[in-house]
Amino acid sequence: MQSIKNQISQNYILLEEKYGAHNYHPLPVVLDRGQGIYVWDVEGKQYFDFLSAYSAVNQGHCHPRIINVLIEQAKNLTLTSRAFYNSHLGRYEEFVHNLFGYDKLLPMNTGAEAVETSIKLARKWGYTHKNVAENQAQIIVFNGNFHGRTMAAVSASNDPSSYKGFGPYLPGLIKVDYNSIEAFKKAINPNVVAILIEPIQGEAGIIVPDNEYMKSLYLLCKENKILFIADEIQTGLARTGKMLACDHLDIRPDLVLLGKALSGGTLPVSAVLADDEVMMCIHPGEHGSTYGGNPLACAVAIESLQILLDENLASNAQKMGEFFRNELNNILAQYPIIKEVRGKGLLNAIELDIPEDSDIAWNLCISMSEHGLLAKPTHGNIIRFAPPLTINQTQMREAISIIENCIQKI
Ligand SMILES: Cc1ncc(COP(=O)(O)O)c(C=O)c1O
Repeated sequence: MQSIKNQISQNYILLEEKYGAHNYHPLPVVLDRGQGIYVWDVEGKQYFDFLSAYSAVNQGHCHPRIINVLIEQAKNLTLTSRAFYNSHLGRYEEFVHNLFGYDKLLPMNTGAEAVETSIKLARKWGYTHKNVAENQAQIIVFNGNFHGRTMAAVSASNDPSSYKGFGPYLPGLIKVDYNSIEAFKKAINPNVVAILIEPIQGEAGIIVPDNEYMKSLYLLCKENKILFIADEIQTGLARTGKMLACDHLDIRPDLVLLGKALSGGTLPVSAVLADDEVMMCIHPGEHGSTYGGNPLACAVAIESLQILLDENLASNAQKMGEFFRNELNNILAQYPIIKEVRGKGLLNAIELDIPEDSDIAWNLCISMSEHGLLAKPTHGNIIRFAPPLTINQTQMREAISIIENCIQKI
């Protein structure tokens, strides 16, 4: 029976291998259904989802309220393009203004597009408001970053697996070490128009910088008329225990980039938030996207944000995150292979004391999947744990015991 069951998964895996580009290396699990914090594979096996589609499913899989809005709106109107106004975009923009306090929103689809948009905005602002000479604008980015897969994003990366083989790269990006104020100070010059930074580096392995560093960075940006662009695509929308990770630091970025959970895992929806001085630098015809700001996305985004508020998901993320780290730290102290448990809210990772090219983390993830919990290594020695923010303490306890069992085995 087992082998027949596995054969079903195997067939789907072979299809992807044969007909799809090999730009991912998935765990051998074929998912077919999701509800809340759980997903099920094609053989009906249930798993805790501790990846949440890289933090896109903060509200839980197939949240009934989001699905309902999606279906109702899909029956009515889905796409108009921005050649016309639509009856949802303005309402969505006002909602986000009231929630985050920025003058304006620019709607895009993927996270990487929001990143691109912010780079264009910052450059234009530099030429129009900072007297930077044409084509001389520079943006400071931080080693270890992940901002997506477009040419601007890979040009900003210092990870060879992101950028190698894809040159020539976008000029005007200065790379400095993350969490080093000295490195940042050295890079400041009059042509720097912005910094682009993740308040916690997600793909790098949940690297949480010092609070003092982030605050100093922010102040130095203010003093030097440099825009602070916070890439909150992974850290935002309640994931770290506050609506934005920058809220932990009382920092108000000049630009905020949102994506992923903005649609609760149903559609690619992203946004750039900024005040008028920055946002009004872009004029009709200078930027856009066919699907950006479509009525379906707007209706879904409002509902997805409202759910974060109605279900107090930031506060649950804060509580469950503390519980998770405390429990894991207590339990795992006895295992020398565990180097560190770290994170904020429900964006956490364990770092294993093994070389990056070891297959132990991968095997641990395979073992956890066999025991009903899905997580994925980021780099070869770090495993990220980021369940939907709706998880409760009983479920978390059960998940922790799976993690412990599997660690015990390795
Ligand atoms: C911090 C950050 N920025 C940007 C992106 C890119 O988002 P997308 O994959 O939607 O283009 C990601 C995706 O993981 C991310 O974590």
